[in-house]
Amino acid sequence: MKLHTLPLHALLFSQAFALVPPAAIPQHGQHPVHERTSSTASLLSLHKDLVEIESITGNENGVGKYLIQYLEAQNFTVETQDVGSATNASRQNILAYLGSKRETRVLISSHIDVVPPYWPYERRGDEIWGRGTVDAKGSVATQITAVEELLAEDKICPGDIALLFVVGEEKGGDGMIKANDLGLKWEAVIFGEPTELKLASGHKGIMGVTLRAHGKAAHSGYPELGKSANEMLISGLYALLHTDLPWSEKYGNTTLNIGRIEGGVAANVIPEDASASLALRIADGEPTDLAEILLKALNTTGEVFNSTFQYGYGPIDIDADVPGNITLEMSMDIVTNTFSGFETIVVNYGTDIPNLKGDHKKYLYGPGSILVAHSDHEHLNVSDLVDAVKGYKLLIEHALA
Ligand SMILES: *[C@@H]1O[C@H](CO)[C@@H](O)[C@H](O)[C@H]1NC(C)=O
Ligand SMILES: *[C@@H]1O[C@H](CO)[C@@H](O)[C@H](O)[C@H]1NC(C)=O
Ligand SMILES: *[C@@H]1O[C@H](CO)[C@@H](O)[C@H](O)[C@H]1NC(C)=O
Ligand SMILES: *[C@@H]1O[C@H](CO)[C@@H](O)[C@H](O)[C@H]1NC(C)=O
Ligand SMILES: *[C@@H]1O[C@H](CO)[C@@H](O)[C@H](O)[C@H]1NC(C)=O
Ligand SMILES: *[C@@H]1O[C@H](CO)[C@@H](O)[C@H](O)[C@H]1NC(C)=O
Ligand SMILES: *[C@@H]1O[C@H](CO)[C@@H](O)[C@H](O)[C@H]1NC(C)=O
Ligand SMILES: [Zn+2]
Repeated sequence: MKLHTLPLHALLFSQAFALVPPAAIPQHGQHPVHERTSSTASLLSLHKDLVEIESITGNENGVGKYLIQYLEAQNFTVETQDVGSATNASRQNILAYLGSKRETRVLISSHIDVVPPYWPYERRGDEIWGRGTVDAKGSVATQITAVEELLAEDKICPGDIALLFVVGEEKGGDGMIKANDLGLKWEAVIFGEPTELKLASGHKGIMGVTLRAHGKAAHSGYPELGKSANEMLISGLYALLHTDLPWSEKYGNTTLNIGRIEGGVAANVIPEDASASLALRIADGEPTDLAEILLKALNTTGEVFNSTFQYGYGPIDIDADVPGNITLEMSMDIVTNTFSGFETIVVNYGTDIPNLKGDHKKYLYGPGSILVAHSDHEHLNVSDLVDAVKGYKLLIEHALA
């Protein structure tokens, strides 16, 4: 979120207070500064608790239990939805709402699973490091805090919002797919993923391909007696890399990643089998169109391949129609500023957005950068979390307006 017209001193002030530990705050009166500070402290503590519970996809049970307790303590009505198999029996989506109003106008959602490996929570000055600090526990903590603040300010009531935290986003989206069985629909859904506090106006599509080549094994001294599956695969991959893939002004180029190659058994054996796993990020058109282009390219090699496609989805347009000028009342009451609108961004990663059916408006927003998510240096700034709470509040109020 960009606070174009916020004076620098106000930003510094807000930062400074964000860093005061709660114990140092004199507890008297209803002064807004205290409110701000204690709410930042509870935001950071919620974020820390969430990150400290490892929740690599498949193992979301612990963090789910924590969230249920937390939300119940905040007087939300909490429903759970089992997602999973015998081995993963207790993985659950969590739906929280106010009172008995399960059907709400707006849904606020993110995911509670993270990618491996686990990196513990670590505070380094103004920065918070660790797995999930960005993707997506930064979103989860700030979404909850935004709702808590709107409640405290009497700006929402039962029937306005529900929170949905799903499992499995990082591995196929089984959680969000299951959420379609909740039997609910909404006017708008606000999805939380790292967007650098910008409002995403769309994300690329995705498709997976497995390419298999089958040749004939032989002694490497007599290659004429065999057929190298590795060489077949190399020519296929070369053809794919040199094919023009669809592009668009909005999303740029469709990109192809050869993520994994396997083939052969030993240096002195003509390889019989080889395979490659590919992920494509689609900038234009549907996966089926792209599959045809790839098959055509493979055909030019003259080799026969066994290609299987995991059709994902084409590019996803997301609503970014939040008006430019909104009056932003800082909770510190120092100033009432004009917020000149969200910057927008187009992202190249997939989300749960296409997994949730319905004709709701869709928003995608959250703290932190995808460029560090999934890495061994996943981290964000404390101020990103504080600003994300403001951003979510604006989005929720806009969606309810
Ligand atoms: C649990 O479920 C996830 C996602 O469906 C899966 O990837 C993982 O392998 C499962 N874990 C076990 C132990 O079955
Ligand atoms: C939850 O509700 C109880 C009973 O109405 C009330 O005493 C408590 O203050 C509420 N807690 C919060 C966090 O609103
Ligand atoms: C898209 O691909 C074209 C042709 O390969 C290349 O010239 C261009 O730089 C690419 N654009 C981006 C944004 O990567
Ligand atoms: C390539 O396409 C042509 C025309 O459809 C077909 O006859 C031929 O068998 C294909 N070749 C391979 C290797 O798939
Ligand atoms: C293609 O590969 C899949 C997965 O290994 C296999 O099930 C299928 O039988 C193969 N098809 C052909 C024609 O070889
Ligand atoms: C927002 O307000 C500023 C100053 O009041 C004005 O200059 C700007 O054009 C407005 N932007 C939009 C998108 O309305
Ligand atoms: C955190 O804030 C500092 C100072 O504003 C900035 O230089 C740095 O890039 C920020 N880090 C992240 C991860 O955004
Ligand atoms: Zn994510």
